[in-house]
Amino acid sequence: MNRDDTSSEAAAIETERLLLRQWRPGDAALHHQLWSERDPRVPAHRRLNQSGHPSIAEMEIWILSDDQVPAPGLLVVQRRGSGTGLGYCGLIENSTGNTEEPELAFEFLQEFWNRGYATESGAAVIDRARTLGYPGLASTVRAWNTASLRVLEKLGFVNTGVHEHDEMHGDSLLLRKSL
Ligand SMILES: CC(C)(COP(=O)(O)OP(=O)(O)OC[C@H]1O[C@@H](n2cnc3c(N)ncnc32)[C@H](O)[C@@H]1OP(=O)(O)O)[C@@H](O)C(=O)NCCC(=O)NCCS
Repeated sequence: MNRDDTSSEAAAIETERLLLRQWRPGDAALHHQLWSERDPRVPAHRRLNQSGHPSIAEMEIWILSDDQVPAPGLLVVQRRGSGTGLGYCGLIENSTGNTEEPELAFEFLQEFWNRGYATESGAAVIDRARTLGYPGLASTVRAWNTASLRVLEKLGFVNTGVHEHDEMHGDSLLLRKSL
């Protein structure tokens, strides 16, 4: 497999409890609910506005136009044998533009928190990233996001000490993991 191989069969990943698969238009409602549950400290452009925008219909269009780069992209996480989406986990572009070191990202519906799903799916994405030949992964996390920092710690990420000060939304910390 190479990093350009983003066909849905190649992208799907199975773990003991979970299936990670590509997005379908029907996942827009899941995406919308994830946005609706975001912490008020998340910057406003990444939360729903008072009229509920971006809407589910707009999110369907995003799903159809998403090119899932860097591979394997962000994947919807569901329980094996169930069609219910729990959240997503995968790789996104490094905000500094470093294509050799994409960022690990994850987000789950609150009702499914603290069951180990982010850790289990994150470990599977790391294995896939290693197979695809990335030398390392990064992750940027707000200093207040204790749960996310704990997941990254469990996955072997190390705090680099590099941080970006943000008075309004909380400082962002840069973590890295060599593969
Ligand atoms: C971060 C997030 C993905 C974690 O998902 P999850 O499936 O609950 O994660 P896991 O169950 O694998 O692990 C959570 C760990 O954090 C710990 N944790 C959770 N909330 C905590 C808190 N408030 N303080 C300290 N530790 C906490 C849990 O105890 C667990 O650690 P443990 O296994 O040592 O007990 C989830 O909270 C989420 O979707 N948050 C909103 C989106 C987000 O912040 N995404 C990351 C952006 S960088």
